[in-house]
Amino acid sequence: MTSANGDYRNKDILLGVMGDPIAHSKSPLMHGAALQALGIPGAYVPLHIAPGQLGEAIRAVRTLGFRGVNVTIPHKVAVMEYLDRLDGSALAVGAVNTVVNDNGVLTGYNTDGIGYVRSLKAEAAPELAGTRILVVGAGGAARGIIAALLLENPSAVVVANRTREKAEQLAAAFEAKGAVSGIGMNEIADRIADVDIVINTTSVGMYPRIDETPVDPGLLREGMTVSDLIYNPLHTRLLTESRQRGCRIHGGLGMFVYQGAYALEYWTGQSAPVDIMRQTIIDALGGSAG
Ligand code: ATR
Repeated sequence: MTSANGDYRNKDILLGVMGDPIAHSKSPLMHGAALQALGIPGAYVPLHIAPGQLGEAIRAVRTLGFRGVNVTIPHKVAVMEYLDRLDGSALAVGAVNTVVNDNGVLTGYNTDGIGYVRSLKAEAAPELAGTRILVVGAGGAARGIIAALLLENPSAVVVANRTREKAEQLAAAFEAKGAVSGIGMNEIADRIADVDIVINTTSVGMYPRIDETPVDPGLLREGMTVSDLIYNPLHTRLLTESRQRGCRIHGGLGMFVYQGAYALEYWTGQSAPVDIMRQTIIDALGGSAG
């Protein structure tokens, strides 16, 4: 059976990403390569949607028979009101990045946090239970990551932010789910001694301001895992300095690849070709693997 309301089985699968701006997005390239590798006919297209058009655009997902869409800045929170159901991942984070259309019923998921954690475990820190984690930054990205990290039972999560109150508020929001505390950036030096994993969720160090680091590299020590959500550049100054100090490093590319992998798996029911997805992005960025 096919219909114009999301049953994609007997026709090309239609997918896309809604954002504003959207021209820079690497998702169409990554998912296009993934569909091709899986032998699934279809397309994943960039959709430039201004904030005032979001409701109409989401209704069009049903009308046009899209199997699903990713949703990116600035729509991740606003999109929630237009969906029929919200998965637990979206409720925990308070934002949606993936919409699945099941015969006209739209469900919102958040694969950013779980994508990040899957990447961290696959590439740097296989066991997170019992670890002490410092999350730098307290914005939307930090929220998604903390929600997913707490599912792994770390012994403590400390959130450090330039604006201390935001770190405290974020910690309080997760109070019931684990040992999360909020501190100011200037308190990192006092708290870093027993930290196992440092995660940068801020934009500090992102292209073009590649000489900046969110944490004083002098505070990092051998044996720590240092992770940076930024993937442009592939290796931020924070990661380069961390590696020089004997830390295990983890870049942000994996988070991007695995948030997309989860979304593709929800849409198609098939395992995502993560290696091909990753290499597609590395080639597009003109960087090197590693
Ligand atoms: P995102 O959704 O990507 O997390 P966001 O919600 O705007 O983006 O959050 C950005 C985070 O990076 C915040 O924690 C912000 O700190 P403040 O809450 O104090 O603004 C942090 N950030 C951005 N630029 C920063 C800088 N130059 N130094 C330190 N922290 C910075």
